Amino acid sequence: MDLSTSITPERVTDPSEVWDLLQKDGAAILEAPDLSLEGTSNASRAVMGEHLLGIGETIQVTSFPDPRRPTGLAPSQPLVAHVDGYSFGLVAPDYIVLHCTHAASDGGDSFLLDTHKMLDLLDSDPEQADLAEFLRNVEIDHSEPGMRPDTGPIMRRTPQGRTNIRYHTFMRPLATSPEAAQHQLMIDRWRALVKAESAKAFRFRLQPGDAVYIDNYRVMHGRDPFTDTVRLLHRCWMWSGDSFGLPDGILGSYAGSSVLTMA
Ligand SMILES: [Fe+2]
Repeated sequence: MDLSTSITPERVTDPSEVWDLLQKDGAAILEAPDLSLEGTSNASRAVMGEHLLGIGETIQVTSFPDPRRPTGLAPSQPLVAHVDGYSFGLVAPDYIVLHCTHAASDGGDSFLLDTHKMLDLLDSDPEQADLAEFLRNVEIDHSEPGMRPDTGPIMRRTPQGRTNIRYHTFMRPLATSPEAAQHQLMIDRWRALVKAESAKAFRFRLQPGDAVYIDNYRVMHGRDPFTDTVRLLHRCWMWSGDSFGLPDGILGSYAGSSVLTMA
């Protein structure tokens, strides 16, 4: 069995090729030369096609401290692997894009981890069977403070049978659990595994025009530190008909909110 948990995304120029690669590999890079915000949105609509249920506003992911996001990391800090949109709780976006408009000259390399392969890795090791069982079955608190409450196991299945595995800052035991201490140890082991796999993961540097599309239910993304603050990405969140469904109303991953548009 291939126990590498890293993804090396295939590169294409035709948006119509991206969906199948997302289903197969969990990620793909589209060469999308229109570097405007609208260009990112248009490419994303073309990628999602008939599968698109809803799409967020395309925003800029700036590379300097953002006063709207006090919990954000400085670019000199590594961005650990994570999934996006946990502020929405269960109805997080199932597909995301990071579209590079300006690359850093000195780092900021990206990496992707396939959580399905991580589960295979755990299932192949009898000493990790308890962690695999924890991910599958033990309810924890995923809620971002002030955002939508969300409790459930780290691994969940959509009504259509897709496996969704999460990793983000706010994972913690249920406050009411009598086994909270043991659950915290399991979450710590999950974090240690992600950190170890991140360190080994294949790196790639997005160049202007590169749009990496990611199955956010299956694949974590992260990046290395950098200091060249010219680096700029566009980000757009998308929901397909195979997601847990659409959030309602005005959405926000942080104070600068993003408005959901029905597809
Ligand atoms: Fe992210």
